[in-house]
Parts: sequence; C-alpha cells; structure tokens
Amino acid sequence: MDPPGGKDMTKKTQNAMWGGRFADGPDAIMEAINASISFDKRLYTQDIAGSRAHAAMLAAQGIITDSDGNAIREGLLTVLSEIEGGNFQFSPALEDIHMNVESRLKEIIGEPAGRLHTARSRNDQVALDFRMWVRDQADAAIAGLDALCRALLVQAEAGADWVMPGFTHLQVAQPVTWGHHMMAYVEMFGRDMSRFRDARARMNECPLGAAALAGTSFPIDRDATAQALGFDRPAANSLDAVADRDFALEFLASSTICAMHLSRFAEELVIWSSAQFRFVALSDRFSTGSSIMPQKKNHDAAELIRAKIGRIMGAMVGLFTVMKGLPLTYSKDMQEDKEQVFDAADNLMLALAAMTGMVADMNANVDELRIAAASGFSTATDLADWLVRELNLPFRDAHHVTGTLVGMAEKQGVDLPDLTLEQMQSVHGAITAGVFDVLGVENSVKSRTSYGGTAPDQVREQIARWKGILA
Ligand code: ARG
Repeated sequence: MDPPGGKDMTKKTQNAMWGGRFADGPDAIMEAINASISFDKRLYTQDIAGSRAHAAMLAAQGIITDSDGNAIREGLLTVLSEIEGGNFQFSPALEDIHMNVESRLKEIIGEPAGRLHTARSRNDQVALDFRMWVRDQADAAIAGLDALCRALLVQAEAGADWVMPGFTHLQVAQPVTWGHHMMAYVEMFGRDMSRFRDARARMNECPLGAAALAGTSFPIDRDATAQALGFDRPAANSLDAVADRDFALEFLASSTICAMHLSRFAEELVIWSSAQFRFVALSDRFSTGSSIMPQKKNHDAAELIRAKIGRIMGAMVGLFTVMKGLPLTYSKDMQEDKEQVFDAADNLMLALAAMTGMVADMNANVDELRIAAASGFSTATDLADWLVRELNLPFRDAHHVTGTLVGMAEKQGVDLPDLTLEQMQSVHGAITAGVFDVLGVENSVKSRTSYGGTAPDQVREQIARWKGILA
C-alpha cells in the first residue's frame, strides 16, 4: 500500500493529510516548524557583536590568524550595515539569525568566514545573543520606570497637601493626601526597578565559550570575550550556560509584577476619571472618542495598560512551561523561548511610556477630591482617637461611641462635623467643642505624622528621599 503522501515521500508533492496549507511536500513543513529567522532576526545586533568579540579573541589567542580575524570583524560590520539598511535577504532555509549572518559573511569575505565558528556552537551563541537582548530590555525597563517615578514625584510634590479619600474595599476609609497616594506608586515602581536591577546583575555572566555543552579543547580566553561584551564574568559551568533560561524567566517575572502594578494604577485612573468620581482629568492625548456616543471620552490608554498584564504574565507562564522538564542541556524546545519574551518586553515598555505620559498630563480635581474625602464619615477614626486622647476612654469604648454618632449622623443624612455639640453629648456627656478640630479632613491628615504616614510633612520627606535615590 502507498504511504499517505503518495508513492515517493521524498518528492515535494502535496501531502494528502495536511497538504492544503502547504504548496510543497513534507520538507516545507519541516522548514516551517524549524526556522526561527522570522523572529530571531531581532537578535542581529547581539549576534554580530558576539561574533566580532569571538573572532577578536580567536585571533588574540592564535587560534585563527590576525588577517582572518580582521576580515571576519570587518565583514561582520558590512553585514550589520546591510541589515540596518534593510538590504539583507533573510532566508528561512538558513533557519536562524546565526546561520543567516554567517552565510552572508561567507559571500562577502569568502574562506575566512568558515573559521568564525571555531570553538563555538549555536548553543552558546544563542544563549549569548538572547541574554544580551534581555539585558538591554532590563536596562530599558529600569529607564522606563525611572521616568515614570519622576513623573509621579512631580504630581506628589504639587499635591502634597491635597486631601483625597483613602479607600479600603473601595469605600471611603480615611482622608489621605494626593501626594501620599502618588508616592505609594513610587514605592511600588521603585521596587520593580530594583527587581530588574537584581535580575540584570544575576544574568550578567557570559555563556560564550561553553560551546555545544562541554566547553572546548581550543585555548580560548573566556574572560576576554566576557569583558568585551560587558559581562561581569564568564559563566562557570558550560552545561548550565547553554541549558538555562532563568535570566529570561526572571525578566518576565519582574515584568509581570511591574505590569500588575501598572494595571492597578491604570484601574484607579479609569475609576478616578469617570463621571461618577471626577477625581482627575486625563488628557485628550491618551483618550479616544466613541464612534456612536458623541459625549464620550474613553481613556483607552489606561484600559490597555490595565490589560497588558495578560500577555506579559502569559509569556512568563509560557516560558516556564517550555522549560520545565527539559533534560540538560539544549533541546530544540528552547527555540520557543524568544517570541513571547519579545512580545512581553515590547508591551511592557509601551505600557510604561504610556503611563508616564498619562501621569505627566493628568490634572487632579482638587475640589472634588476634598469633597469626596470629607464624605463617608472618613474622620470617624479621628473622632475615636480624640475620645481616647482627651477623655481617656479605652479604644474599644471610643469605637462604640463613635459608631453610635456615625449612626446618628447617617440617620439625619449629615456628616460627622454637622452634628451639634448637644447631639454629641447625648451620646457621651464629656465631649467638648474641641472635638470639631479633628473632624476636619485637613486636621485629620496633618495629624498622621507617624513614619510613612499621610501627613504632608511626612510625604515631603519621602519625596526628598526619592529625589535623592533617583538622582
Ligand atoms: N535557532 C536555535 C534556537 O533558537 C539556535 C540554536 C540551535 N542549536 C541547535 N543545537 N539546534 O535555539
């Protein structure tokens, strides 16, 4: 009986089982699943830098001649300018960026090109290229977070005294300041920055020279290539160097946490800018109109930032799933490590830039913030604290008295400061007029002077501290 593809499976005929999608036979399918050039061409800068450093080291060690080393290094610059100028023909038949570059190098310089791959394998080459690419992205994330924190500091400084409601359970809890709320995000994004820095420091070991997996018998100088490519040191175990992608996972984990912070902040901006809250006006530059409802201004940038965590966390889960269970060292599975990291990095940088622009442009509605801060019995805790401080009530009793007063105000449809002294005294006879001092929202925030509290002076101290850190 004939095999499903016809009599001769080696012929490029259409396959009966899955031929509809492919004009060509099984080898075309193999090429399609095998080739990574469509995405790993993004690594060309790193690939060429790595190869140039490798060639220089080979020549310095006498493994290849100086003239071959120079020809390779010069030829690679030509390849680089061809790619940058858009004059490079990427070929899926050559599978990946490494072979595309080397093959073009051979066309340009001839025989010496064949010596470049001495004491090297695509396994350490791809580990190197990808690591350098991720390292650049960690730097970009740090720079993006730095810009965002600076924009938040400007907002915090302008509104260190502006009173707004602080929420728990999305219910007005206690008055806080705008500056304090902005600085909460500076803390979060500041930690994100330090996570990228930590990840960067750990990933900064050079895998080049691990060769296929076991190292090489050539007298290479791994310190020289590590140094030339900006690494702190060569990776100390050749198996680990070609097998692990934890540097990319750490980048994705840091990105996911950062995207989570961005998402929470974006959600707040969506809520705050709604007609129901009117806490902030977001600029038209980051909004769109509705095609059917002329009155609408949609804060699409905030909504998209809120959503970006989906694909970024998806990339993290995806790469964990690829890597789990792989025996050491390299398996082709690991070619599936790149696309999602590229996508996650692109979208994180975009989200950081969009958030920075939105923060720089947004205008707080100071009056609305203040009115909202005074609503919802937000100074009830201040009242309870006053009863403890001035009347020496145990806190639990003070809590009870305050609760009764809140119930009374609620029934009358007024706020706590609107109750009369007589009404207050009907609940606890010792209450004096002094109580009204703590029922104002300004007094409330001013009194929260504990370290890290919302008092404007505390907030200003934290702004000054962060200015020093970001300087
Ligand atoms: N394109 C490959 C990748 O992305 C390069 C490494 C190929 N190595 C190998 N042994 N087939 O992983």
